[in-house]
Amino acid sequence: MSLEIAVAKPGDATAFWKANDRAWRGELWAFKVIWHEQTHDITATIDGAIVGALNLRIAASLAHVEALYVLPERRGNGIGRALVARSEEIANYYNCHKVSVAVMNASPAQRFFTGSGYHTEAVLPQHTFKLDVAMLRKFLL
Ligand SMILES: CC(C)(COP(=O)(O)OP(=O)(O)OC[C@H]1O[C@@H](n2cnc3c(N)ncnc32)[C@H](O)[C@@H]1OP(=O)(O)O)[C@@H](O)C(=O)NCCC(=O)NCCS
Repeated sequence: MSLEIAVAKPGDATAFWKANDRAWRGELWAFKVIWHEQTHDITATIDGAIVGALNLRIAASLAHVEALYVLPERRGNGIGRALVARSEEIANYYNCHKVSVAVMNASPAQRFFTGSGYHTEAVLPQHTFKLDVAMLRKFLL
């Protein structure tokens, strides 16, 4: 047996993850039911062009905002809030009890989410890029 640790080419591990997806999540979280994971892109378009988008990941009755971005020249017009509201509708539809998002602590993004009903669950000191990260959440039920 010769063990090799390598950086795989894109796609080379896809079949491995597909085959073992349920096993690794089940073992990690001690959670045996089938784990449905899905992602949704919600877009805001003006005259057919995307001016803002939100990427939402749903798994195990939790929704997580992976990314949200509104083009700078389109900000302040309610687009960010509308994208978040739509993502919460989707989360609700899939029976999520909570939406979470990680942002830099004491940042404009945190103020944006706080204004949309999100609360700070925890602050992880020097977590990402050595910056404090705020874990925010909103309960839907
Ligand atoms: C955060 C972001 C998505 C907001 O988008 P937006 O379209 O300008 O937001 P909205 O116009 O819907 O604003 C909704 C509310 O949040 C407030 N808000 C928006 N940006 C804010 C900021 N930087 N600081 C404080 N409040 C803010 C608005 O005043 C508004 O409140 P109101 O309804 O009481 O007037 C946008 O600034 C952005 O893309 N930022 C860079 C990326 C980022 O931080 N993404 C979020 C983390 S993933």
